[in-house]
Amino acid sequence: MQQVNLGIIGGGTVGGGVFQAIQRNGALISSRLGVRLHVAKMAVRNIHKPRPVKIPAALLTTDWAGVVNDPQVTLIVELIGGTTTARELVLNALKLGKPVVTANKALLSAHGEELFEAAQNSRTNLYYEASVAGGIPIIKVLREGLIGNRITRLYGIVNGTCNYILTRMKAEGADFADVLAQAQRLGYAEAQPSLDIDGHDAAHKIGILASLAHGFWVGPKQIYVEGIRNITRLDVQFAQQLGYTIKLLGIVKKAGPVAGARRKPNGYAPVQVSVYPTLVPNAHVLASVNDVFNAIYVRGDVVGDTLYYGRGAGQDATASAVLSDLADAALDLKCGTKSRIPPFVPHEREGAVLPIDEVVARYYVRLNVIDKPGTLAKIAAIFGRSKIGISSVIQPEGHEGESVPLILMIHDATNAAITRALATIGALSVVKAPPAMIRVENFE
Ligand SMILES: NC(=O)c1ccc[n+]([C@@H]2O[C@H](COP(=O)([O-])OP(=O)(O)OC[C@H]3O[C@@H](n4cnc5c(N)ncnc54)[C@H](OP(=O)(O)O)[C@@H]3O)[C@@H](O)[C@H]2O)c1
Repeated sequence: MQQVNLGIIGGGTVGGGVFQAIQRNGALISSRLGVRLHVAKMAVRNIHKPRPVKIPAALLTTDWAGVVNDPQVTLIVELIGGTTTARELVLNALKLGKPVVTANKALLSAHGEELFEAAQNSRTNLYYEASVAGGIPIIKVLREGLIGNRITRLYGIVNGTCNYILTRMKAEGADFADVLAQAQRLGYAEAQPSLDIDGHDAAHKIGILASLAHGFWVGPKQIYVEGIRNITRLDVQFAQQLGYTIKLLGIVKKAGPVAGARRKPNGYAPVQVSVYPTLVPNAHVLASVNDVFNAIYVRGDVVGDTLYYGRGAGQDATASAVLSDLADAALDLKCGTKSRIPPFVPHEREGAVLPIDEVVARYYVRLNVIDKPGTLAKIAAIFGRSKIGISSVIQPEGHEGESVPLILMIHDATNAAITRALATIGALSVVKAPPAMIRVENFE
């Protein structure tokens, strides 16, 4: 049986998981593929470090370049993370014509265009199933399963840490800071949690999915990102009373009729690509995706609505995704397939991301106002002058004191219009704190 010799760079959570999974299911994979996956070398930073997954000492080295350059090694697996050494090693391997499997969304987000171009120039492949949503095979879904569709909508809960925090805030009526501390104790959040809670990790993943869905490269600077650190217990509770659940959603959607006015002369409608906390109607399936689970909801013009759900991170889930890439890569090596579909169509880079100011949405607005006659009229007048419609006003009971919460649900308005109106409202003397605004998604 033909054998593929793997050089795995990184033997941490994912690397250890991949090694273990190959021990467990390597024979099964070989029987399915007709190709044997053989771990030839594994590079780590410290070969003496105790590891939860035992890796034979003979496989270990600290010399990643030696692994990449070893002529016996035919497939490179990058599992070290980061964007510096990882970029160098992936580029080196691709330039040698060796296919590379990576789980590194930060690397792809920062240098994807360069890396995919290098793969193409060397007539080899870069595989990245584990870079988005862990065990959910969403890359394969978009690249192959839905290839006959135009993707009109994609909504993703793709950061397990944020989903865990929002789930606990809702279930326990707890404050953000308390749940974050709990998540850190349980190992669901990093000691430095900014990458997750400020939405950047989700943006890395959503950029990859947007590129794949729309055929042009979407870099991190083009993605509008808001995290969850300003979501309060009050917002979670009011959203619940209104029939919604707050989720951090990655959104990729073709611009609607209003923004469609910006359709470019070449016929491409711009695409919204953003990550922000969103009020999701409780009746929608994404509202029930809880704890660290991920889900991606994709609408294709032929297939209609589809949903993908599972563990978005963790040793075994991520190893499962890496194994899927290893199987693809092994078969491609066996069959001599030189060009997998990259996450954009080369030279088809005409698409455009819709600037956030032009994105049209509905909004939940929470104000802290002085409880006296005339307050609502002043606020309504500002929305009126901005031609923004209010669909409902709720003054929750049980709040006494000089200032009280006032909740407004706002009809479709552009981001620019609502931002301007809220700045004016925030400056009113009857408004006692900066307005809180969360977008509402109705999945039409
Ligand atoms: N963890 C997850 O659930 C998950 C999910 C999806 C994707 N990912 C992605 O998978 C990648 C790996 O994540 P991880 O959680 O497995 O990280 P990790 O546990 O920190 O493991 C990193 C591994 O890389 C090795 N390493 C670092 N720098 C190296 C160098 N210069 N030369 C050789 N080895 C080096 C480390 O060696 P030592 O062991 O000696 O320190 C360690 O084995 C990241 O890109 C991450 O974003 C992770």
